[in-house]
Amino acid sequence: MKKVLIFGITGMDGANLAEFLLNKGDYEIWGVIRRSSSFNTGRLTNFFDNINLVYGDVTDSLNVDSLIYDIKPDEVYMLAAQSHVKISFNLPLYTAQVDSLGILNILEGCRKHCPNTKIYNASTSELFGDVLEIPQTELTKFNPISPYGISKQFAFYICKNYRESYNMFICNGILFNHEGETRGSTFVTKKITEALVKIKNGEQEILKLGNVNAKRDWGYSKCYIEGMWLMLQQDTPDDYVLATGENHSIREFIEEAAPYVGMDIIWQGEGINEKGIDKNTGNIIIDVDLKYFRPSEVNELLGDYTKAKTILGWEPKVKFKEIVKIMMEHDIKTGGKSN
Ligand code: NAP
Ligand code: GDD
Repeated sequence: MKKVLIFGITGMDGANLAEFLLNKGDYEIWGVIRRSSSFNTGRLTNFFDNINLVYGDVTDSLNVDSLIYDIKPDEVYMLAAQSHVKISFNLPLYTAQVDSLGILNILEGCRKHCPNTKIYNASTSELFGDVLEIPQTELTKFNPISPYGISKQFAFYICKNYRESYNMFICNGILFNHEGETRGSTFVTKKITEALVKIKNGEQEILKLGNVNAKRDWGYSKCYIEGMWLMLQQDTPDDYVLATGENHSIREFIEEAAPYVGMDIIWQGEGINEKGIDKNTGNIIIDVDLKYFRPSEVNELLGDYTKAKTILGWEPKVKFKEIVKIMMEHDIKTGGKSN
């Protein structure tokens, strides 16, 4: 059995990855969870008894060092992060501590105790920020414009530096937005799908959103975790973009999702006075609210995954319309209740 250590196992990707590796049958799974005053293992329910959970925090270097020393994993996936871009403007220092220094603690632990461990670092298309090229590839210059993106840029380069300086096996996955049934409720796709269901069921009146014109290259988490795993199965470590090669606006996501609950959204007004109205009832469903705008906005992301396709044989199997369908059908079943 290969030992794998997953930081961020309670998150969307971490839980999907744990399940994916369990199904492979030759992994002993170790996952790091944080102490919390409320239940935080909801995404692990289906396989809770088949994995090993340990308490930890990537900002606690002693803890990370001991975990790596005790477990001596064959593979480490660093998925732990303060992963919300807007919140990174409210908590810039904390975001830097987790998203920049967290991986450094892991790199140091592995360098000292198990230098042959293969390490995956969750990098991000937020590094492209105010994009300097469309579409973005592994060669596109970074231009991050949030504390989150800038913290993740440190993480990217410290991984590259340890790979080159110490000959360690470390990959940065430059992943574009990816979604799914268990996406956190404060990210825009899940906020929309849950709200539409609740509005339909009479449990919520209106959905307040920020910039509905931003465009994202949205993929499906379960496809992307396979890409992460493939990166660590190669003979040599490298950095890869995972994306779908198509992008859509928040507005388009809403228009695609609404018919699943019998709504047909039309738009009235402009800027912060814009409203999304259900043509069938005349009810206001969407209200644009300044509160959800960011101090600086990444307007458009579009990825080119040619390198991953050529070297890893990876391709996104699920694209925009199918993702909306999966999320809407899931939330209709659960009544739009969060994970
Ligand atoms: P997520 O759902 O927000 O999960 C984040 C995970 O990190 C959770 O398990 C969280 O624990 C854990 N965590 C946060 N701070 C921690 C700390 N100080 N110590 C230990 N664990 C900590 O994120 P995700 O969407 O699965 O994304 C996984 C990773 O990929 C993140 O690094 C994210 O930045 C990156 N990424 C995501 C996307 C995307 O579109 N999803 C795209 C590119 C990159 P709790 O459950 O206790 O909060
Ligand atoms: N969250 C949120 N809430 N976003 C909104 C809202 C709202 O009410 N209204 C409009 N948006 C817009 C944001 O301004 C942004 O342009 C877009 O919707 C997507 O926002 P999020 O879903 O929060 O994702 P993100 O693109 O900022 O970040 C996600 O993707 C990154 C990869 O590009 C996160 O998963 C990051 O962790 C990840 O690195």
